[in-house]
Amino acid sequence: MKRTLGVCYYPEHWPESQWAEDAARMAALGLTWVRIGEFAWSRIEPTPGTFQWDWLDRAIETLGNAGLKVVLGTPTATPPRWMLDKHPDMLAVDEQGRTRGFGSRRHYCFSHRGYRAESARITTALAERYGKNPHIAAWQTDNEYACHNTVLSYSQSALHAFRDWLAQRYQSPDALNRAWGNVFWSMEYADFNDIALPNLTVTEANPAHTMAFRRFASDEVVSFNRIQTDIIRKYSDAPIAHNYMGRITDFDHFATGADLDIASWDAYPLGFLSDRLEVTPEHKRRFVRQGDPDFQAFHHDLYRAVGRGRWWIMEQQPGPVNWAPWNADPLPGMARLWAWEAFAHGAEAVCYFRWRQAPFAQEQMHAGLLRPDSAPAQAFHEAAQVAQELAAMPDVDCARADVALVFDYASAWAWETQPQGRDFDYFRLAFAFYRGLRRLGLNVDILPPDADDLSAYKLVLAPGVATLSEPLLAALAKHKGASLIGPRSNSKTPEFSTPVPLPPNLPNLRATVARVESLPPDVPVPLTQGGNFLHWREKVETEATVIEATADGWPALVATGGLHYLCGWPDEAALDRILTTLCDAKGIPTDPLPEGLRRRDSATHRFWFNYNAVPVERGDITIPAAGVHWEKL
Ligand code: GAL
Repeated sequence: MKRTLGVCYYPEHWPESQWAEDAARMAALGLTWVRIGEFAWSRIEPTPGTFQWDWLDRAIETLGNAGLKVVLGTPTATPPRWMLDKHPDMLAVDEQGRTRGFGSRRHYCFSHRGYRAESARITTALAERYGKNPHIAAWQTDNEYACHNTVLSYSQSALHAFRDWLAQRYQSPDALNRAWGNVFWSMEYADFNDIALPNLTVTEANPAHTMAFRRFASDEVVSFNRIQTDIIRKYSDAPIAHNYMGRITDFDHFATGADLDIASWDAYPLGFLSDRLEVTPEHKRRFVRQGDPDFQAFHHDLYRAVGRGRWWIMEQQPGPVNWAPWNADPLPGMARLWAWEAFAHGAEAVCYFRWRQAPFAQEQMHAGLLRPDSAPAQAFHEAAQVAQELAAMPDVDCARADVALVFDYASAWAWETQPQGRDFDYFRLAFAFYRGLRRLGLNVDILPPDADDLSAYKLVLAPGVATLSEPLLAALAKHKGASLIGPRSNSKTPEFSTPVPLPPNLPNLRATVARVESLPPDVPVPLTQGGNFLHWREKVETEATVIEATADGWPALVATGGLHYLCGWPDEAALDRILTTLCDAKGIPTDPLPEGLRRRDSATHRFWFNYNAVPVERGDITIPAAGVHWEKL
């Protein structure tokens, strides 16, 4: 498939006299896509019920006539100020009970029925008007669900919707009491209407209550999104995407993904390195202008799974952003490298954010492809280079991987609900395993937690999956390859109790987690073969084969046939050894890579990505600093 480039554009930010020239420059640059509209509600409907389509008609026409394909966003992330007069209680409420105000964006509660109706109304109006417009080649629902911590709302709307959700799930208060164990601390309920949201309790709420609320909140995002996709599909055949974010786990992206045609995400490598990774200060310094070497790839692979193969970058960082604690300027080459890395992971399109830097409002310090004075910024030239390279490189077909990693959003909620140790974070754990695979030069596929066919994979990892689903357990039982399960996998029931028989309770593996401990960062548990468990370790009683042990005499890695259970959170040294051994056993070729150098095979090419600020030698090739190199396989 042909890969393409695009850009995010806000015609409403610029005089109409500038649009045609902008469109011509985009086309000349080699861009295919232009995403518009996702924040334009106040210009589309300036007062309730009065629509002003003429400007948007002309903007779409101008862009389309220049040869660009338009991605049209529904503007529901930014309800105009008048909406609050109609629905004063539509705002989300934070965990402390404070109403979140107007004056930025994402100021709505997913559960507010009136706002859902407004969102359906504006989506219908847009889809009716543009559903058959030849220039509209894709849609985007809303913008970055969950960004700015907006999934959990403790509003009255959420409370009522939660009670309905509970009544449907449990049918009777007795069933709910039993499922949650509410006999503990006399928490039993006689009526669904007695149940509150799990905030502002004196001490920790029942984790089953919190987990139910997390599942409910995720379902609210899914149903909110589905209202829009159902409407758009009535009027348009164009594919529908949503633009997800980096390291956001507050809702089940696989569930929203089932209603969409394309998963896309917004990749801001320098912002993410600065504000959402547990790494050493040295690592942050080393990659400050390049971004973390694995963070983007992880999300590429994750969203390829969420999109069932179809995924894009909807927003690609072009220069410094404005929102991280520190906002470095990318090294020359990175805006090209990031785009090629996405293509090598199967992205259909990479759209830079944004066309021209805005001279006003919140993001005036956020770079674009153009400076505010319309002169090209650094990334403009790099986008031009990528466009030329894409023209010369016909297809970048995605290759299968030998190795898969299961990723489960509900596990993120579970370990946030009861971490048992401050450092036990699900994303952090899954990402550590992903990094381990990448250090060995491997392609990785990410699988949803209900994956029921593992036959394509020689090695499957499922660290920290709180409840292994029935389909996955059945697939593991049949799996001919190796699997590595744990730590902490299958240690909760779906209702957040401890299962008996005790975990891990895996098919044919006679092992029992007898007790666990969480560890302060400076208390490692050494392994006899080198490396340590950090953060978390389990004392396992077993009749299975003990492959590795801790220095204090407990099993560290146990196995029956190909099924392995890992009894702690391995540091890099331990993980590298364990993964290498498993790969060797299954005939998966590994290629341990130097720091900052990463590799990804497409169906036809091997790509090298050098995240370092200095060149790296690999065999007889030199990959320049912040550079990409590819060769035919
Ligand atoms: C994204 C968002 C964009 C813009 C961008 C700035 O999170 O979708 O609208 O705010 O960040 O980096």
